[in-house]
Amino acid sequence: MSAVQPRHAARESLAVRIAVPFGVLFTALASLSTILGGIEIEPAAAQQPPAPAAVLRLPAVDVLAAEAVDPCADKVVIAALAADDDDAAVRAFGGGAEFRADVAAGSAPCVSLDDPNRIWVVVNKQRPLQPEGFAPASLSGTDLRATSLSNEMLPEVTVALERMAAASAAEGAGTLGINNGYRSYDVQTRTYESHVIARGQPGADAVSARPGYSEHQSGLAFDLIACTVECGMHEEFGGTSQGEWVAANAWRFGFIVRYVQGETGTTGYLPEPWHIRYIGPELAAAYHHGGFRTLEEFFGLPAAPDYAH
Ligand code: DAL
Ligand code: ZN
Repeated sequence: MSAVQPRHAARESLAVRIAVPFGVLFTALASLSTILGGIEIEPAAAQQPPAPAAVLRLPAVDVLAAEAVDPCADKVVIAALAADDDDAAVRAFGGGAEFRADVAAGSAPCVSLDDPNRIWVVVNKQRPLQPEGFAPASLSGTDLRATSLSNEMLPEVTVALERMAAASAAEGAGTLGINNGYRSYDVQTRTYESHVIARGQPGADAVSARPGYSEHQSGLAFDLIACTVECGMHEEFGGTSQGEWVAANAWRFGFIVRYVQGETGTTGYLPEPWHIRYIGPELAAAYHHGGFRTLEEFFGLPAAPDYAH
C-alpha cells in the first residue's frame, strides 16, 4: 500500500459542493432590497423561518465537474509508473474501477494497453505483442505440480498463483496444478502448428493463438489443471471442483478467466476455463464487481474475433 495519499482521496477533498439554503439566501436578499429601497418585501415573509433544506436547496455546483483532471499529471501515478509498480499505479488512479473508466474514456494517455511489461496489456487477434518476439525480462518457476516443462511465469504471477492454490486447497476445492505457463514465441509457433496439423487452420485459430499473439508469451497467463492422485488434462479443468472454485474466486488473487462461454465473438476463442490471466488485484476486483466478461469490454476495445491478415 502506498504511503502517499492516493489521487482519489485528493479528488474527494477537492470536490467542494456549494449549496446555499434558500431561506438564508431569501432573508439576505430581503434585507438588501430594504436597504436599497428597490423591492417591496412583506416583513412577515422576510421573517419566516427557512423552509426545509431538502425542498429549497439550490442545485449543488460540483466544482470539479467543470474542471478536467488529468490522472497522468498526478505525482503518485507518475511515481508508481516510473517504479513499474502497476498495482500501485492503479490504486493511485483511485482504484480499478476509476482506472478502467479513465482508460476506456481515453483520458489516461500514460497507460498503454500495448505495453507487454504492464499487467494491463491487452493481447488478442487484433493486438499482437509489441514486438511480436517479446520475452519477459524475468520469469520464475512455480512449485505447483506441473505436467509440462513450461511452468514459469512472471515472479509476481507465480506468487499470486501459489496463494490461489493454497486457498483452493484450504477452502476444500482441491489441488491446483499447472500445464503451461510462459510460452516463448518459438514454443507458441510449435504449439500453434500442432493444432493446425490436428484440426486445420480455422480449427486451430479457435483454440490456439498464433505466435506473437498469445498471452502465454507475456508471462501473465497459465493453464490450470486439477490434481488428486493424478493431475488431469487442462481441457477437463472446467468440470472439476477446482475449476468451479477458480471461476468464482480467481479475482481475489488478481486473476480473470480470460476466455469464457458465450464470448467467442469478442475474443475469437472457444471457452477456456483453464486459461487464467493475471491483471492484478485492483483490476481483477473491478472486473469481477463490474460483471465484465472480456478484457476487450473492460477497456472499451473493439471485439477481436479474427486476425487482420
Ligand atoms: N489458447 C490460447 C488462446 C493461447 O494459445 O494463447
Ligand atoms: Zn492458455
